Amino acid sequence: MATRVRKAIFPVGGLGTRFLPATKAMPKEMLPIVDRPLIQYAVDEAREAGIEEFIFVTGRGKAAIEDHFDHSFELEQTLEARGKSDELAALRAWLPKPGQIAYVRQQEPMGLGHAVWCARHLIGDEPFAVLLADDLILADTPCLKQMMTVFDDQGGNVVAAMEVPHEHTSRYGIIETGGAEGEVHAVKGLVEKPAPDDAPSNLAVVGRYILMPEVFGELERQDIGAGGEIQLTDAMARLIGRQPFHGQVFEGQRFDCGDKLGFLEANFAFALEREDLGPALRQVLAAYGV
Ligand code: UTP
Repeated sequence: MATRVRKAIFPVGGLGTRFLPATKAMPKEMLPIVDRPLIQYAVDEAREAGIEEFIFVTGRGKAAIEDHFDHSFELEQTLEARGKSDELAALRAWLPKPGQIAYVRQQEPMGLGHAVWCARHLIGDEPFAVLLADDLILADTPCLKQMMTVFDDQGGNVVAAMEVPHEHTSRYGIIETGGAEGEVHAVKGLVEKPAPDDAPSNLAVVGRYILMPEVFGELERQDIGAGGEIQLTDAMARLIGRQPFHGQVFEGQRFDCGDKLGFLEANFAFALEREDLGPALRQVLAAYGV
């Protein structure tokens, strides 16, 4: 079995109901943060963490994602004819190389666990990463790259973790911690969306995972969990005790871009970081008295 994490799954089969009507004909993952769609941030993060194969689990109405990661001959020809060589080079620079990207269809949105299971034949018998594009993380070192360090040290499964307000535990998978060394917790248990009174901690799993292929055997059971969906958390929970399992409190700020307020905040945070936009945006905000 390969010991390096070479492949990543990007589940993009969700319906994005919280963002209707914007997501009626356009995938949620194509919503832009400043000038890049969410899915491109996730692919760039994976690439910076050493991922070489990008596997998208798509659904109906997601064709824009495939087009985004392909050549656009008409656009490229027009840019060339107009002498816009910088724009053309920039557009081509981040395209995955032929054969690096694959698509598998989740015919029904039966949950995140089901989406990951749909990619089992493309992963095979090796560790892999999962990135949820709507969880956007602003960090000096990309979050998945931080997690790779823990994977190299400890092996086994690694999930990204962050403290959330106690009253928000029912929005996340929550970790029962078996003790921590620095920012790395040994995971003793995982519960999907517990009510605050039932939550074993305030430590939530966010959308970055490094998983061992044995999780597919657990997903195979197709057990229905919280919200009537096949939950990745439930399958991961059954690996605890059989394999190393760690939760890493990452350095960085996470934005839930599947939520309107989180999406707006991410746009401000990413724009304020940029030299070409930050100063002007500060002036605009000042005009609003912010
Ligand atoms: P969400 O819980 O955000 O669901 O999924 P959603 O359908 O995308 O959005 P809302 O809640 O209706 O607004 C978390 C992640 O899991 C993927 C989504 O694309 C998202 O990245 N997902 C979810 C799938 O790929 N398939 C599913 O069946 C469910």
